Amino acid sequence: MRKSDLETFKDWFSGYTQSFFTDSAVDRRNIDLKIRHTFLVCENIVGISQTEHLNENELLLAETAALFHDVGRFPQYAKYRTFLDSISVNHGRLGAKVLEEKNVLTRIPVDEQDLIITTVKFHNAFEIPSLKDKRKILFLRLIRDADKIDIWRVFSEYFEGPEEERASAAGLGLPDGPGYSKNVLSCLHKKTSASLSDVKTLNDFKLMQLSWAYSLNFRYSFRLMAERNFIERISSLLPQTEEITGAIAALKEFVDARADF
Ligand SMILES: [Fe+2]
Repeated sequence: MRKSDLETFKDWFSGYTQSFFTDSAVDRRNIDLKIRHTFLVCENIVGISQTEHLNENELLLAETAALFHDVGRFPQYAKYRTFLDSISVNHGRLGAKVLEEKNVLTRIPVDEQDLIITTVKFHNAFEIPSLKDKRKILFLRLIRDADKIDIWRVFSEYFEGPEEERASAAGLGLPDGPGYSKNVLSCLHKKTSASLSDVKTLNDFKLMQLSWAYSLNFRYSFRLMAERNFIERISSLLPQTEEITGAIAALKEFVDARADF
């Protein structure tokens, strides 16, 4: 693909996302959240891809994958008014369907279209599926890191900003309270990523987000996580029990060692 293809894709993305604007300020905030997220995931993926020495063509493809990774969020929100896949639709699969049905990618070679569609489809799967194509695996690793890094920003800013400015769908409508689930915390202790299906409360959601650090793939990602203080910012929102602070200390050590400061 060429740089001009990426420009065309950006124009399409902007027209497509604007078609979901409504008169409601609540809707607008939720849609804007995903547009901003998209562009910051693009920045993250370019940063990771450059430090991993991807070639010029792969860099453009990686940015395209990031541009479209959440394209399913817009029709998802329009129909269900939520970003929670479990009560609506799998937004990765929906995004892949949008790209195919609207023939968005037809100006680039078929193998590149296939790479982008697969990356979009599985960017949000619990685990990277076992695919033979090594380039698809690489792209899934890239998008998943780039996405997580920006989700940590969204979530940190969500709690740091005034309540009236929050995008309502960002908190996923989870109940807030002092409790948390042992299952989710035990993933942090085991150094594995927790699953959204175990998340019952907002605290569980925070613990799950922190546990994602254990599935980061690239040094640059660990570096961004450390530089942007996401562990401190998210963990400060949790009850400071001994079992939580212990898990957080271990996590910090894990991330700092891989960020290689
Ligand atoms: Fe997503």
